[in-house]
Amino acid sequence: MERSEGDIAPVERSEGKASQVLAEEVSRRRTFAVISHPDAGKSTLTEALALHAKVISEAGAIHGKAGRRSTVSDWMEMEKARGISVSSTALQFNYRSAGSSVDNVINLVDTPGHSDFSEDTYRVLTAVDAAVMLIDAAKGLEPQTLKLFQVCKHRGIPVITVINKWDRPGRAPLELLDEINERIGLVPTPLFLPVGIAGDFRGLLRRGEDGVATEYIRFTRTAGGATIAPEEILTAEAAAIREGEEWETAAEESELLSATGQDHDEELFLAGQTSPVIYASAMLNFGVRQILDTLIELAPPPRGRAAIDGREREVTDPFSAVVFKVQAGMDAAHRDRLAFMRIVSGVFERGMVVTHAQTGKPFTTKYAQTVFGRERSTVESAYPGDVVGLVNATALAPGHTLYADKKVEYPPIPSFAPEHFSVLRAESASKYKQFRRAVDQLDSEGVVQVLRNEIRGDAAPVLAAVGPMQFEVVSARMKAEFNVEARMEPLGYGIARRTDAESADELGRQRGVEVFTRSDGVLLALVSDKWRLQYIQKEMPELTLEPLVAAA
Ligand code: G4P
Repeated sequence: MERSEGDIAPVERSEGKASQVLAEEVSRRRTFAVISHPDAGKSTLTEALALHAKVISEAGAIHGKAGRRSTVSDWMEMEKARGISVSSTALQFNYRSAGSSVDNVINLVDTPGHSDFSEDTYRVLTAVDAAVMLIDAAKGLEPQTLKLFQVCKHRGIPVITVINKWDRPGRAPLELLDEINERIGLVPTPLFLPVGIAGDFRGLLRRGEDGVATEYIRFTRTAGGATIAPEEILTAEAAAIREGEEWETAAEESELLSATGQDHDEELFLAGQTSPVIYASAMLNFGVRQILDTLIELAPPPRGRAAIDGREREVTDPFSAVVFKVQAGMDAAHRDRLAFMRIVSGVFERGMVVTHAQTGKPFTTKYAQTVFGRERSTVESAYPGDVVGLVNATALAPGHTLYADKKVEYPPIPSFAPEHFSVLRAESASKYKQFRRAVDQLDSEGVVQVLRNEIRGDAAPVLAAVGPMQFEVVSARMKAEFNVEARMEPLGYGIARRTDAESADELGRQRGVEVFTRSDGVLLALVSDKWRLQYIQKEMPELTLEPLVAAA
């Protein structure tokens, strides 16, 4: 029998309403990270985005020109000394595009931008739905951008390209696009082209079908780039008169790009094969609104995720989340430990009791916070795509799942190929117990990978890291939290490969090779260098030496 609206019980109706609210909250969210090489302008862009979203009223409020380095999160003395941020956190803001009737919610998950890398940097990318690849117009693709891009590619994260610093002398616009195409195989499909060469940035040509210019957005500089740059919108005809040759060049380039098929295609973009491109100046706030509008228009909203058993958890299913980062000692006064989770499905309400999938134990979420830089605020509710920090969540480690109502467990976060190896020893044998406890704790948090073998024994585990800074974090935390002075001796290996029990003995007999068991049970062969690796692969092809999920 068919039911009319009037037959629906009140509970059902309110449930229907709740799921509609949830679906709307999901569709207005975009969660992304900026991937870039240090100095490409990530902090400046973050600030410019915040300015456009009216989170701040003047650029300089987040990191300030003079005090930039010291005002970002400084959770450890080490950071202060080096003047860098080791933390990854998330900035959430509302943004309404022109002509839209709803506010979008943007979650910008921060990737540490310093020159040393750690696994944290990569783990952040498991928490986002899209990435903005920020490139310096004079430098083009740089090593860390490449590494991070490889992770996006591996995880199928769609990438929007921003070519920054167009206000400064740089390369030709099409030359930069060629470089992207040739070096990483990503087809750039500009949505806008710059009018004026690098160093003479006047505005943006919006590309329409077949590369035909649909409008010209002309920018005006503001004093010190501190406020939003006023825009004037002109037709193509008016632009030609106003800018003359500069406009003609951009219009021609646009048509050239269409002739080689470099036009935006939603499907190819989402499949990670093409990348929409925007030219910008984060410092002058040119092109920043266009970046936000593009994120909203093209980047995918949060989606469901496949669980370990292969079943898909939809965003509208009951609450579930994945921990992607654990950070300790952010606040020296409180010495706390924050676990950052990305919500996958359902509504999160502070205080709700959830289940920790790995232990089956209940977990209370009374102290849920959002964190950006030094700022922390309490979260009352959150939706898929949002990032929430849980205070003193000692049992949680990266890759862990939390859920409510309906059981689910997501696959672990892959550990990335380490490239740096050190033996760790306690300075004093009397502290051995604390030493072991510290190693186990840091291992479970995913601060470093811990490798052991029978020859070296438990007193001298080998630490494996993606970036050498992970070692410094270990030393600093062992001292501060466990009162253990530890010594680290670098080991002469440069490559880690996954092997198996059948190959382990033979590999262990090779010069320049040592086999270890990682704490997750995986057997790793450490090899001195690529020549040694190539030699073994050639002479003994039967031995298993599989590449790990490579960061580069
Ligand atoms: P990062 O977080 O990626 O490391 O880069 P950051 O924003 O700190 O920017 C690095 C440098 O590049 C800064 O200069 C910044 O002002 C400059 N920059 C960023 N975006 C633009 C841009 O669009 N145009 C120009 N011309 N410069 C840009 P700095 O000299 O290190 O610092 P400051 O003295 O300017 O504060």
